Amino acid sequence: MRKPSTPDEDEIDAASQTDKPVDLLPKSALPYHPRVSDPLDLLVDLSVGVVLGRSESFHRKYHTGGLGTIGGVAETSDDILTSLMGMPVTLDLMSPHVMFVAGKRGSGKSYTLGIIAEELALAMERREIEVAVVVVDTVDVFRQMVDANDEQVDLLKKWNLEAKGFSVAVYIPRRTYVGLPDEVKKKARLFPLSIGPRELTVSDWSYVLEKGGSLSTTMENLIGETLESVRKGYTLASGEKVPLKRDFSIKDMIQCIESNPAIEELYKPATKTALIQPLKRADRLGVFHPGGTSAQDLAVAGQITVIDVAPLGSDAEAVLAILTNMLCRQVLTYRMAWTDEGTSAREELPPTWLIIDEAHTLVPRGGNTPAKDAIIGYAKLGRRFGCSLVLCTQQPSAVSDDAISQADIIISHSLSHDNDIRALQQRAPAVMPDQFRDKVFISSLPRGVALVFDQCTENKRGFIMQVKPRLSRHGGTDRLSGLFEAVRLLIPEDIEDETEPEVEEEELEVVEEEPIEDLPEVPRPPLKLSKEDWKVLDGWMKDYIKTLFDQEKQEYDIIDESAPRIEEPPLEPMSTSMEWELERVPITELDTDQIRIHKFGPLSALLLGKAMTRQVLYSRASHEFLFTSEKDVRETCLVERDSGDPLELIEDVTSALISAGLTLDELIHEHNFTFVCFRMDDLRVAFTVGTSEEKVSIPVVIIGSNRSKVGKLAGQIRGILPS
Ligand SMILES: Nc1ncnc2c1ncn2[C@@H]1O[C@H](COP(=O)(O)OP(=O)(O)OP(=O)(O)O)[C@@H](O)[C@H]1O
Ligand SMILES: [Mg+2]
Repeated sequence: MRKPSTPDEDEIDAASQTDKPVDLLPKSALPYHPRVSDPLDLLVDLSVGVVLGRSESFHRKYHTGGLGTIGGVAETSDDILTSLMGMPVTLDLMSPHVMFVAGKRGSGKSYTLGIIAEELALAMERREIEVAVVVVDTVDVFRQMVDANDEQVDLLKKWNLEAKGFSVAVYIPRRTYVGLPDEVKKKARLFPLSIGPRELTVSDWSYVLEKGGSLSTTMENLIGETLESVRKGYTLASGEKVPLKRDFSIKDMIQCIESNPAIEELYKPATKTALIQPLKRADRLGVFHPGGTSAQDLAVAGQITVIDVAPLGSDAEAVLAILTNMLCRQVLTYRMAWTDEGTSAREELPPTWLIIDEAHTLVPRGGNTPAKDAIIGYAKLGRRFGCSLVLCTQQPSAVSDDAISQADIIISHSLSHDNDIRALQQRAPAVMPDQFRDKVFISSLPRGVALVFDQCTENKRGFIMQVKPRLSRHGGTDRLSGLFEAVRLLIPEDIEDETEPEVEEEELEVVEEEPIEDLPEVPRPPLKLSKEDWKVLDGWMKDYIKTLFDQEKQEYDIIDESAPRIEEPPLEPMSTSMEWELERVPITELDTDQIRIHKFGPLSALLLGKAMTRQVLYSRASHEFLFTSEKDVRETCLVERDSGDPLELIEDVTSALISAGLTLDELIHEHNFTFVCFRMDDLRVAFTVGTSEEKVSIPVVIIGSNRSKVGKLAGQIRGILPS
C-alpha cells in the first residue's frame, strides 16, 4: 500500500507490492473527467484503489477486507505522475460512518445509496463483515434490488461487472400487505410494517393527526389524557372497568374518548369529534397497530431490509418520521443495552447501517419533526456503538447543521442552488479546490458523477468520482407497483384489518392477550440507563473499541458466546422471532424439583454470568413479569459459585427473598429455563439458574419504583455471596 507521491512508503510495506495492481477503469467507463489543477493526494492501495473512510494504519491492518468499490476517480491531472484517473474508489464498510449524499433532482443520489447497500451485501456475501442494513425508501426505488440490472448491461460490461439481484426483505405498510395474495408476499419477501400506537408521544400524535404538528393545546391535552386513561385503565359511567392496556390500538383510544366520563366532563363534544375524525383517518392508514414492528424485526444481521413507505402516498411523511424516530432510538438503546450488561450485541441487535433517502423532510434545518432529535442523536452517538448512518438529500441547505456536521464522508452530486452549494462548502470534511466552488462547475456535473470528501487526514482533498453502475435494478415500475396501487384502490377505506376483528367490550381482556398474527411480541430494551449503568458502559466501550477490529477476538467471542449446551440440540441464536411455549405455574411454595436448571457447555464464569443475566432480562416470560413501567429502577445481583449443588444455591436465594418479605408469585417455564418470580407490592424479582461444568450462576433481577427498597433488597441478596 502506498501513496503514489511518497516513495519512502514503498519500502515500509513491501509485502503488498507483490499483489497484482488493480486494473484501472477504461476511459469509456469514465466519459466525464475534467482536469483539476490542485494536486491529488489520497490514500491509495495499489491492489484495490483509493481507500475512503480509513486511516492508513487501519487499512494496513485489514487490507482488502471490508472494502466495497463504489466508483472510479474521474479527474485528470497536469502531472501525469500524481494522476489517479481511472483508479477504483473503495469505501470502508468495516467501521461505522456517518455519510451524507447530496444532489439535485435526478442527479443520481438514490442510485448511489443503492451502490452502498449493494456493496454492504457483497461484503457480507464474502463474509468480511456482518451488519444489518435498513434502507428507508419513500419513493419505491430500492425494493427492486431483488432483480438484476438488465437495463444497463452495456454499462456494466464497460466496468467488467455482471448484473445480479440481491435477496432483500421488504417491509410495506400493513394495510397494503394484508390486501396482497399470499403467493406474492412469499415470492417478493414482503413483510407487514406497523407502528404500535403505544410508541407515540403526544407530540408524535400531533404530527400524525395535523400536518406540521400544529394541533391546538386543548386537543393535545385531550390526546394526553386519552393515552393516560388507556394505559392506566378507566371506569365507565356504568361503573364497569376498562382494564389498563400496555399495548393498544387507535380504536381503543377512540373508544376511550367516546366513553370515559372523566373526558366527557372536561371536553366539549365538538373537541372530541375534532380529534376522533383525524384519529379514524390515521387508523385507516393501516400502519398503526398493536405490537408494531420493532428495530429487532428490521435490523437483522446479514440482511438488507427495505422499508417501503411509498404505498402510503402523501401520508408517508408523518409515518416515516415516527418510524425513523423509533428505529434510531431503538437501535441505539439496544446497542447500549449491550454494554449495559456486558453481553454481546450480536444476538440482540447487530451493528446497523441505516440508509435514509430524502432525509431533508426528517431533519430539517428549521422546525421540528418527530424524527429530528432521534436522527441527530443517532448521528452523534451511533458511531460509538458501531452504527452507521447514510443520509440523502436534494437540499443540503435545508438539512439541520447538527446532522451534516457529523458526516465523515460527503458525496455530492450536482447542485444548482447557491444556498446548497454554500452549505456543501461550509461542511465539506476535506479541502475543496477552488474549481469545485464554481457554481457552473458543480451544477453541470453529469448524472452519476459526484464530488467526494473524506474526513480521514490521508485523503487530503475532495475529488471527482464516477459512481459505478448498479448490479441490481434501481427503481422503475414493476408488477408489484401495480399491485400496490390496485390494493390501494380495491380496499375500501373503512375496511377492518383481517387480524383485528370488531370486539365487544367484555372481550377486551382477551384481545389484549391475543397474539398478533405475524408480528411477534418483541421484548423491549430494559429500563433507561442509570448513572451506574453508564459507568459500566463506559468501561465496556473502552474495551469494545480496543477489540472492535481485532478479528481474532471477534471470532473467539462468537465461538464463546454460542457454546454448545450439553443437554440439547445445537444452540440456535436467541432470536426474538422465535417464541418458546410459556408454561406458567402459579405457586406459593417452592419445590426445587420443578426448576429446570439450564446446563451450558464449558464457559468462563464471566460469560456464564452474562448469558444468564441476558436470559432474565430478555426472555419473554421474565421480561413481561419484570418490565411494566418505564419509571422503575433495576438492580441485578449475580449469585455465583465455582462449584456446589445448584439446588442449595437456589434455596439460599429463595430464603433471602422470603426473609426480606417477598412471596413466591409464579414459576414460568420457557424453553429449557425456569424463571422464578417473587413479588412484594410493586417490588418484583425474577431469577433463573444455569450451570457450566461445576459452576453455578443465578442472576437475580430486582425491579421496583422505590430506589432505596430495590437497593436494600439487592444488598440483602449480595449478602449471601461468600465474601
Ligand atoms: N452512477 C450511475 N450510473 C448509471 N446510471 C445512473 C447513475 N446514477 C444515476 N443513474 C440513472 O439516473 C436515474 C436517476 O437517478 P436517481 O434515482 O438516483 O436520482 P435522484 O438524484 O435520486 O433523483 P430524485 O431527486 O428524483 O430522487 C437512475 O434511474 C439511473 O438510471
Ligand atoms: Mg432519489
